[in-house]
Amino acid sequence: MNIEDEIKKLDWSKEPKGLYEPIGYTLEAGGKRIRPTLCLIGARIFGGAEKDVLPAALALEVFHNFTLLHDDVMDKAEVRRGRPCVHKKWDENTAILSGDQMMIEAYKLLSQVAENQLPTVLRLFNKMATEICEGQQYDVDFGISEYTGISLHEYMMMIRLKTSVLLATALQIGAYMAGATEQEQQALYEYGIHIGLAFQIQDDYLDCYGDEKTFGKAIGGDIREGKKTWLWLTAMQSTTDMSPLMSKDYTTIIAEYNRLGVPQKALQEIERLTRQALTYLEQVPQNEATDQLRQLAEKLVTRKS
Ligand code: IPE
Ligand code: IPE
Ligand code: MG
Ligand code: MG
Ligand code: MG
Repeated sequence: MNIEDEIKKLDWSKEPKGLYEPIGYTLEAGGKRIRPTLCLIGARIFGGAEKDVLPAALALEVFHNFTLLHDDVMDKAEVRRGRPCVHKKWDENTAILSGDQMMIEAYKLLSQVAENQLPTVLRLFNKMATEICEGQQYDVDFGISEYTGISLHEYMMMIRLKTSVLLATALQIGAYMAGATEQEQQALYEYGIHIGLAFQIQDDYLDCYGDEKTFGKAIGGDIREGKKTWLWLTAMQSTTDMSPLMSKDYTTIIAEYNRLGVPQKALQEIERLTRQALTYLEQVPQNEATDQLRQLAEKLVTRKS
């Protein structure tokens, strides 16, 4: 099944255009489609049919895209997937309301899940959705805080919530729907959590060291917004003179990161978390779908977009 084709089948040519056009604009802009892909693979590992999990897979992608609309307002981002963010192409009200509607559309898709499985799928989905909001709030709190004592431990907790749980839940929902045991679901969930942690640190890395064209987002946004990223916190830990790190100037911060060897440390941490993720795959059936998860992990470590 090609998830891209299934996303294209969703119809956004509805009225009022001001509400639906930005949804189509967002969903047609590509993106890696990692979350629905994980959901489909999660099901395939346990012999589940992709068509049975498709509504849940689509719900996860639409939900993810909803979070991006609001995240870009919160982060004052200009570019997403190589195009102006919805709040730039339209305005903030549009990003808020089209985003709200996308969340509703995600739940409409989710409601197509088989009746006997819906209560569990809804419980998993709702838990994840709340955790993302909690993670986003920590991200805001850490960012605006003048307090520099935020630890890497707190950062990992924050990205687990804002990023990892969506990848982990995508796998778990797919696995659950295909009849995996609790223990197998948990193993895949943990794989997803660790891949997600590596994924977000890679995102932080690319926000500093990526290429805008391939990354699809403007470089340096995290520095400008004073985000407490893995790179920044690691730099803080590695120096006694913190004054350069108090700057919000891209060149100043990057020079300091480079001086402290932060990019190399970030890449090592991404690699370490990915290796850890892979160990969880030993607890699930071994087949071509499991191999696909292994390949995906390798691909994500070296991603540039
Ligand atoms: C962006 O997610 C938000 C993060 C969790 C870093 P992706 O990097 O998966 O974005 P798309 O969907 O591929 O554009
Ligand atoms: C992503 O964090 C978390 C969510 C969207 C929930 P970022 O703010 O780092 O994501 P990008 O870099 O804007 O895609
Ligand atoms: Mg952002
Ligand atoms: Mg953000
Ligand atoms: Mg980012």
